[in-house]
Amino acid sequence: MEFQSILLNYQNNIAHLTINQPAKLNALNKQVFTELDQAITLIDKNDTTKGIIVTGAGEKAFVAGADISEFKNYSVTQAVEELSKKGQQVFKRLELFPKPVIAAVNGFALGGGLELAMACHLRIASDHARFGQPEVNLGLIPGYGGTQRLIQLIGKGKALELLMTADIIKAPEALQLGLVNHVVPQTNLIAKCEEMITKIGSKGPVAITKIIESVDNYFNYSGNAFDKEADLFGACFDTQDYKEGTAAFLEKRKAEFKGN
Ligand code: COA
Repeated sequence: MEFQSILLNYQNNIAHLTINQPAKLNALNKQVFTELDQAITLIDKNDTTKGIIVTGAGEKAFVAGADISEFKNYSVTQAVEELSKKGQQVFKRLELFPKPVIAAVNGFALGGGLELAMACHLRIASDHARFGQPEVNLGLIPGYGGTQRLIQLIGKGKALELLMTADIIKAPEALQLGLVNHVVPQTNLIAKCEEMITKIGSKGPVAITKIIESVDNYFNYSGNAFDKEADLFGACFDTQDYKEGTAAFLEKRKAEFKGN
């Protein structure tokens, strides 16, 4: 499939998904969301995929937010349905993707850009990355899950500070807050993401999928997330991966997981 606003290519069975609007600092417009949705479907169908690395084209920006130039065309109803809910749905697909999704934050991650990064399972930042939710500068609030996921990652107090002040913070502070998992030099950014996906890929694939689901349940499951965790834990016992993993441990050998 040919995309106009994003790039999708594979290296060593890792899907590299790049927002490709460098002249606008990779701002997220309607077409980017449509293509991201299509790309996630394509990647999901590819059984050999080990995980996804999401990044932005160029060295200046990961994503500098939603495309502000599109806003003037939207009514209130359209802003809710076509901007906010559509964006939330696409980001939720990344958050629930059954294999690791890592944001390689290669520059500005502002507004919708930070929301995109936060929807990924892990965030690796280059040392010159910058982070913020500057929507209040536009009289807006984040609409792609930012008010929720920022609290989840850094706690209520700091989240409220960043959301209300629109402050833009540097990579070391983002690391200290727990907003990113690691900070590395720009030249090592993709290699570090690949290394983490490879490491996760050596574990039991079914268990990794259930970790993603179970952690998400902490925030989203309307029932008791601990009961749900027990159900998912139990479901692991019904897999060949579990049998192979425990057998390999007891036999002091490396497990050969098949993902079933
Ligand atoms: N939407 C649309 N266009 C954007 C954009 C966005 N979110 N962010 C950047 N751009 C465009 C700029 O309009 C500019 O276009 P132009 O060359 O046609 O004038 C181009 O990208 C480069 O940005 P510029 O502002 O000139 O770069 P800078 O280095 O001076 O500043 C930022 C970089 C990221 C600080 C600044 O672009 C910015 O504040 N962007 C908006 C961030 C934001 O509010 N995001 C939340 C949106 S809800």
